[in-house]
Amino acid sequence: MSPVESAGQPAAPLAARPLEVVANCWLVGHRNAESLLQCNTYLRVFDDGGPPLRVCVDPGSRLDFPQVSANLRALVGDLAEIQAFSLNHQDPDVVGNSEHLCTANPRVRMLVTEDVWRLVRHLGIQPGGVEFANPGRSRWFTVDNRKRWQLVPTPFCHFRGAMAFYDPELRVLFSGDLFGGVNQLGRVHLFAEPGDWAGVAQFHQIYMPSREVLQYAVRQIRALDPPVEVIAPQHGHVISGALVEQFLDQLYQLPVGRDLLVAELDETYLQGYQQAVIELLEWAEQTMEPAEIRQRLADSTVEDGLEQLLHWDGPDARLRGGGYSALLMVFLRLTGGEPLEFVNAARAHVLSICSLHGLPIPPIGTGVE
Ligand SMILES: [Fe+2]
Ligand SMILES: [Fe+2]
Repeated sequence: MSPVESAGQPAAPLAARPLEVVANCWLVGHRNAESLLQCNTYLRVFDDGGPPLRVCVDPGSRLDFPQVSANLRALVGDLAEIQAFSLNHQDPDVVGNSEHLCTANPRVRMLVTEDVWRLVRHLGIQPGGVEFANPGRSRWFTVDNRKRWQLVPTPFCHFRGAMAFYDPELRVLFSGDLFGGVNQLGRVHLFAEPGDWAGVAQFHQIYMPSREVLQYAVRQIRALDPPVEVIAPQHGHVISGALVEQFLDQLYQLPVGRDLLVAELDETYLQGYQQAVIELLEWAEQTMEPAEIRQRLADSTVEDGLEQLLHWDGPDARLRGGGYSALLMVFLRLTGGEPLEFVNAARAHVLSICSLHGLPIPPIGTGVE
């Protein structure tokens, strides 16, 4: 059997399971059905007649190394065959396995911005060479006199020196955390579906600093020629087909980070949050007694201030104000002390409600694994 299996098939632990994104490009990260955050590592093989050039994109978390290593070895035989790797930025979920690549091949080249290298060098790693991705000098990552990738700066998404790489031959953009997403437990399919937008929105609302920087990045991506067909982020699902344009549009509109600190948010979306609270309570009633729900929401020993935002109109909960904050408080009160499965199901439900009504997603967390 081919070591390359489809995303839908179960795999034995540590069975090699690279997933083909397009020809000559695989996702080799650990698809972990028990995790809410997938760390995506990719392998791009340039195979144009001569000796193939193998480049690893964002080698990934040390926690995932056994699986990443198995996947890479299934494709290239030995990690020593990887001649270069790129780093979007210096977070541990991106750079953790760099040391393994440097050890396996002392001549391996690393592609990073100066701003990333200044921090990454503190890992103590010794690549065979460091190539600075600096569009001021060249807009291309060039190997053997061939322009392989176009440099696409995505400043503050989420690091000042973050750099995406565009492969014009495959029309794949390796975008780092930009377009990354959290996933629901068990949903680790390769290609994004429309419903996966909620996880992308939540990830950006947690990790990206402002809509302004997202809009700058989206404009850079839209200017690429030929147009991007596939976005391969460092988390979540690979985005392709009509969803590329759709997610670019949606990201352009999304309030994140600093935008969500604005106090008026609570009032601007009050009606939407009122509806969201109703829907969350309806959902909770499927598994929780109405009396228990009411007791939790009325519990005066919890000092979160919910009593000032929510009152009861007969059997109905009504918001007076503070919609964004109130939805978060209702979520926390409903899920307090409940099993993780219930908390995650509630979280997924809040995500989909907010996505459906176009509401900024409160910081309901992604859980601790
Ligand atoms: Fe990051
Ligand atoms: Fe990341």
